[in-house]
Amino acid sequence: MKIFKQVVVFLLLTFLMISLVSCKDSKDSNVFTGEGKGKNGTIKVEVTIENNEIKKIDVVENHESEFTKDVFTKVINSIVAQNNPDIDVLSGATWTSEGIITAVKNAVDKSGIKLTPKVVADDAKFEDVTTDIVVVGAGGAGLSASIAAKNSGVNVILVEKTAVVGGNTNYATGGLNAAETKVQKEKGIEDSVELFVEDTMKGGKYLNNEELVKVLAEKSAETVDWLIEMGADLTDVGRLGGASVDRAHRPTGGAAVGSNVAKALEKKAREVGVDIRVDNKAVELLKNDDRITGIKVRDSKGHEYSINAKVVILTTGGFGANQDLVVKYKPELKGFGTTNQPGATGDAIGLGESVNADFVDLEQIQIHPTASSVNGELITEAVRGNGAILVNINGERFINELQTRDVVSAAELKQPEERVYLVFDQNVRDSLKAIEKYSKAGLLIESETLEELAKKINVNEENLVKTVAKYNGFVSNKNDVDFGRTSMTTELNKAPYYALGVWPAVHHTMGGIKINTNAQVIDKDGNIIKGLYAAGEVTGGVHGANRLGGNAMADITIFGRIAGLNAAKEVK
Ligand code: FUM
Repeated sequence: MKIFKQVVVFLLLTFLMISLVSCKDSKDSNVFTGEGKGKNGTIKVEVTIENNEIKKIDVVENHESEFTKDVFTKVINSIVAQNNPDIDVLSGATWTSEGIITAVKNAVDKSGIKLTPKVVADDAKFEDVTTDIVVVGAGGAGLSASIAAKNSGVNVILVEKTAVVGGNTNYATGGLNAAETKVQKEKGIEDSVELFVEDTMKGGKYLNNEELVKVLAEKSAETVDWLIEMGADLTDVGRLGGASVDRAHRPTGGAAVGSNVAKALEKKAREVGVDIRVDNKAVELLKNDDRITGIKVRDSKGHEYSINAKVVILTTGGFGANQDLVVKYKPELKGFGTTNQPGATGDAIGLGESVNADFVDLEQIQIHPTASSVNGELITEAVRGNGAILVNINGERFINELQTRDVVSAAELKQPEERVYLVFDQNVRDSLKAIEKYSKAGLLIESETLEELAKKINVNEENLVKTVAKYNGFVSNKNDVDFGRTSMTTELNKAPYYALGVWPAVHHTMGGIKINTNAQVIDKDGNIIKGLYAAGEVTGGVHGANRLGGNAMADITIFGRIAGLNAAKEVK
């Protein structure tokens, strides 16, 4: 009886193994696996092919950001419709779409099956149209402006040149700065509008337009309420560089703020009926006498049409991903990487110039001290805010890690071998969900001891151990005698220990179109350009010479909303 049972188990296992092997990567089967490389690592797909046709594509592994879900759907639908993985990458989501396309091609190659591509008729094109307001650029500022305007009872079309809604907002991580919020009060954090203004002006080296900064601070708490009402999670508050108190609002557990807010805004915009048109790029501002009357748009196939509108709102973002412009305004940044999405190319500079808009501070370009030295991804300042230190190859700290970005970046650039590491422990990791993203992307180097960690990253072992012990002493004495860091949340003493290689990269362009406190665009003679508003990173003046972490999310939502409300008033 025992032998009979063993034989049955053996036969069953053999059958199971044969069926597993035969349903993957075998010419006899119709399901084939393939791999490609996305922005954050491997993308693995299973492609079902029957009668030389792709029937189904399942993504079985990926580490891409949450907001790229739509990218997967679009690419997969397009491949299946054309029965051909040889399609164009999606603008604004180059790495992710390239990763899926490569994975599908890899699976099809393995199958050895010859697919017959289908020609898909695509006659869909937009005709000239008239509306109340057209908003250009569907990042956080554009979405905020569109929702505010639409909720005021006017019609809104929102055009976005890439295939993806969210822009740079999708990448924002650290938080959204706001003062005197309900969330701060519940946590017992004492803050004030005045202190927020002071920190922002000091961080910006007093080059900021103080009137704009005051609006930013005064409207911040109500904007947090507005975003929470729309479904954003801003219930956690942390510290970012240059802030005197904790005011960076972010999702529970310290998860990334940008994708959370962008998702809530996009959902609301669609719900209230904003007409969102992706792959539609504004190529010209239309003007009649002294008034802006709309835009000319080009779609991804080159078809052009006009959107005539009573008001145009520019929310096209900055130019951090445009190396030529960055170098034009700040030559010493030649060769630096960027944390920006590929669409941040400064399109509004040309559009603004064409209607005599004034510009301020274009040469003020920020480098962020902690982009991953492996893949360039932004490593949020909140990692330092929640306790991490920065060390060089000698295993030594070299700066107050929570100084403003310009100061920390400048200190890094002086370090030997151009190698700098964030070092932290399990306490820090447990306190900040955003770190899990870096772990999934394979960026974290982990060890049970600091000695082992030092060996892995090739920094001075003895010094690293001493540095951490000394820092832990500063934490317990609440006094960083070396660098004067005031916010030290935790001793670094809970294994495992982690290191993450970082280096500065272009992060934010502080300069841009000149606006007044109503978000109206000002021309070179100091007059308001009728019918033209702007908000977010496309504008200059709010951040002066250096933006504080958390102030971009505040800027885009606060001034986006102001632009939308005022534009709607003007229409009415
Ligand atoms: O480091 C960061 O999380 C970036 C935040 C910001 O630029 O506001």
